[in-house]
Amino acid sequence: MTFADLELPDRVRDTIGAELCLLPDPTADVDRALTRYHRIFAALPTELLQQIMDFGRHNDSPGVMLVRNLPLDAELPPTPVDGEPSAAKNSFVAEGVLLGLTGLLGEPIGVLTEKAGRLVHDVVPVREGARAQTNQGSAVFLNFHSDITYDTTGRYDVANPDFLVLNCLRGAAGHDAFTYYADARDLCRHLPDPLVETLRSPLYRLNAPGSYTTSVGEEVLSEPVPILSGAPRFPEITVSANGTRPLTRGAGTALDALQDACRSVAHTVRLEPGQALLINNRKGVHARSTFRARHDGRDRWLQRTYIRRNLWNVRYRATPEDRRVHY
Ligand SMILES: [Fe+2]
Repeated sequence: MTFADLELPDRVRDTIGAELCLLPDPTADVDRALTRYHRIFAALPTELLQQIMDFGRHNDSPGVMLVRNLPLDAELPPTPVDGEPSAAKNSFVAEGVLLGLTGLLGEPIGVLTEKAGRLVHDVVPVREGARAQTNQGSAVFLNFHSDITYDTTGRYDVANPDFLVLNCLRGAAGHDAFTYYADARDLCRHLPDPLVETLRSPLYRLNAPGSYTTSVGEEVLSEPVPILSGAPRFPEITVSANGTRPLTRGAGTALDALQDACRSVAHTVRLEPGQALLINNRKGVHARSTFRARHDGRDRWLQRTYIRRNLWNVRYRATPEDRRVHY
């Protein structure tokens, strides 16, 4: 119920791929590109299309969805080693798949502190960040977390993405990179009620993402917030990758139990080329295994979007230069 697995028929994969390979780099005019992708992805079989759309719009739909047998670029340049876009990529099928799926869920957004506000994030292991609790890491387990956003209001769990999409361009050379997703509904069923009650209390301060705190040089903590919130049937969960500080000993115990419970209930996916993972960033938390990175152009390469269902409630963060890019 909290995980869904879809596979495109070969003929649909080929039809979509043939159209995407003719299109230019979407970043030049992303709204025009999203419109074209909308038409192309309308070719999905009705049942699959509805499952993806239901993933975006319904409270009771799965928290994570694997979509398989997606089209690929005919040629893929070496994996970038610096976390920046590849200058050698001259077809844009992967970007089309990423943004086509994104458009079925909501609106891609950029955040200036994350990948310089780009809409398409290249997620690759970076040598300097190998041990960081960020998307650059590889040598350490990336703890179960939500993708949060530093915000001057003191709440980092409000203007953050509703969804993420990860599209795999190149798998880990050692087939050793696993993505995990723990749904808050499964966690609430798994954990004893008193611990759930503690996690529902505003006894935690979230540290801002590493992409923000490195510019400040110290922790930048949120207002006290609960980890779990909302209607019991539809709980929302928020955990910072870069440190969640409990305010009491009991809150710390509950947080430790939560991380253990995440490992128990998590869905596990090993992303391969032609597969994308749709992640609801409010219904659950995600994590990544350690994996071997060589920084030689053959490492794992994902592209990622941050998605808001709607841009209206984050308009106070919109930059004057670009209506999709936020402070
Ligand atoms: Fe993340």
